Amino acid sequence: MSLCIYYFVVLVMVVVWVQGNDNPDIYLDVPELIKKYGYPVESHQVVTEDGFILTLHRIPHGRHGDIGGENRVQGRHPVFLQHGLLSSSACWLMAEPDKALAYIAADAGYDVWMGNARGNHYSRNHTSLQPSSKEFWDFSYDEMGYYDLPAVIDYVLATTEHSKLAYVGHSMGTTMFFAFLSSRPEYANKIRVMFGLAPVARVDHTRSTVLRDIAYRYRTLEDLFEVLHGYEFLPHNELVIKWTEELCTPEHTKELICLSAIFRLTGFDYPQFNLTWLPTILSHTPEGTSIRTMAHYAQGINTGKFCRFDFGWLHNLCRYGQITPPEYSLSDVKVPIVLFWSKNDYLADTQDVSWLASQLPHVVINYEVPYPKFNHIDFVWGIDALKYVYKPLLKYLAFF
Ligand SMILES: *[C@@H]1O[C@H](CO)[C@@H](O)[C@H](O)[C@H]1NC(C)=O
Ligand SMILES: *[C@@H]1O[C@H](CO)[C@@H](O)[C@H](O)[C@H]1NC(C)=O
Repeated sequence: MSLCIYYFVVLVMVVVWVQGNDNPDIYLDVPELIKKYGYPVESHQVVTEDGFILTLHRIPHGRHGDIGGENRVQGRHPVFLQHGLLSSSACWLMAEPDKALAYIAADAGYDVWMGNARGNHYSRNHTSLQPSSKEFWDFSYDEMGYYDLPAVIDYVLATTEHSKLAYVGHSMGTTMFFAFLSSRPEYANKIRVMFGLAPVARVDHTRSTVLRDIAYRYRTLEDLFEVLHGYEFLPHNELVIKWTEELCTPEHTKELICLSAIFRLTGFDYPQFNLTWLPTILSHTPEGTSIRTMAHYAQGINTGKFCRFDFGWLHNLCRYGQITPPEYSLSDVKVPIVLFWSKNDYLADTQDVSWLASQLPHVVINYEVPYPKFNHIDFVWGIDALKYVYKPLLKYLAFF
């Protein structure tokens, strides 16, 4: 499924290069961006049980200082934000302070931690494997759930001396979470509450025809990548960022064409997209993942099930003790869950979300965004995400 998306994103970027922007933010990485907007920032490295070195970004308090200072460790509840597919901790920072969730939550008094899934730009290191090797990329969201989340959650709790944290996931950040608790249910008592923004588990109703076509052919594409020794999918690319900076001016016609390409995957919603942020968003997206992660979603589209990775019957038999991959056990995800979803989300279709909500044992709030055009990426970048998602989220968060 990878090749088509690759060409597609390249096309999108070419269109943007011809346009332009003098936005200095496209040169900044996550810590620099956070500093620029006046917030304290820390980077932490966490090693998983299987050797991946992950980077966490933290905004320990808001821009108006560490109010309630001496109480700080016990006083500020940790909130953990987990990005979606091909993204990074940057996804929570793609707007000014009063509009981006990471800043809003820090200003609201939380200790904000942002994860970076294995293989992305900030988590591309391992104690023994090299990113140039095939073994490094031998993972999907299954491993992100089984290894990455327990490691980072334990780390955040140990560092903050709290016994629980609140988890906010967007898209794949929710898939990982469901994989995580269904394989490690003992972690449920470390999660105060989970917020699933545009939650993704079963994906067979995805409305993006581009994705459906690619999913249908993913095996052929996967074989092609294997021949080319490509195991990584859409990594962070400095050259593209440089060109974006050099060739851009703020006029919007061609950017609209490029946006329509993005909307084909995520749902059409021009009014909610702030074009001023497009170059910055493109300089922080895509941030890379494994080909296998893409293949895992393709399997979900094809089978209509939310299962572990399908390696083929023989390998499945060795690994799982059965010919087909086991389904994730959503009934084991025994934490309070708040789902935020919308009607125009091509990737988290309402039918798939309803199925998910029916399988989870403890959905406390099932919230439909009251704006029918809201799409998959509006949950992180929508101009009115504050009004439609973050305000209700913070209100509910205060209850847990
Ligand atoms: C990767 O981690 C090792 C420690 O295991 C460290 O020595 C090395 O500098 C890291 N590489 C990068 C690119 O961060
Ligand atoms: C779009 O982003 C720019 C830069 O942060 C900001 O000044 C502007 O107000 C935003 N537009 C809307 C409609 O929110």
